[in-house]
Amino acid sequence: MMKVRDLRTLEVGAGTGRVTEELLAGGADVLATDLVSEMLLRDPIRSAMRGRTCVACAEALPFRSRQFDLVVCALTLGHVEDLPGALGSMVETLRPGGALVITCFHPFATLQGWERSFTFQGEECSVEQHVHLLGEYFRTLRDLACPIEDLQERTWEGLPVLFGLRARKAASSRHGPGC
Ligand SMILES: C[S@@+](CC[C@H](N)C(=O)[O-])C[C@H]1O[C@@H](n2cnc3c(N)ncnc32)[C@H](O)[C@@H]1O
Repeated sequence: MMKVRDLRTLEVGAGTGRVTEELLAGGADVLATDLVSEMLLRDPIRSAMRGRTCVACAEALPFRSRQFDLVVCALTLGHVEDLPGALGSMVETLRPGGALVITCFHPFATLQGWERSFTFQGEECSVEQHVHLLGEYFRTLRDLACPIEDLQERTWEGLPVLFGLRARKAASSRHGPGC
């Protein structure tokens, strides 16, 4: 388990606050963002995070370069078509030496036709999923000078369903307009 105490942390696609709660419990100094204001945090996390939330698109984060120690993005990038755009935007906000932690549904599961669905007003809805192969994460992050240092895959009944990765921005990285 990564230690997050006192880390200036940006959470992208925070949703209802499932991961935000864990980051707060670990002592991180978190700013939670999501594309959809209605999704952004549920009480009691919403109250605990008052003033530390922002509606923002992963592909165009409105923050200064190099200001966060940690960027976390859980179960969100499968909804984003422009993966290089989102990864570039997140890496830009990281300070050199900072870490990027991503989890998402495994592209294999999406290719198998697995859908994420929910019921809204009595109707079954499914959320659009884009297929981003793990090689695309690898190459994009390498080219952003934020290479992957750990990658784990989780299976269910023998099939890969989730993955998580940690990448670290090079200490000497010049990526971002703040250079
Ligand atoms: C499945 S939820 C995950 C929420 C939370 N991270 C978690 O793990 O419980 C995906 C979230 O991504 C957000 N999202 C989708 N596209 C996005 C984008 N382009 N930029 C930022 N957030 C986005 C959705 O609004 C939603 O809250």
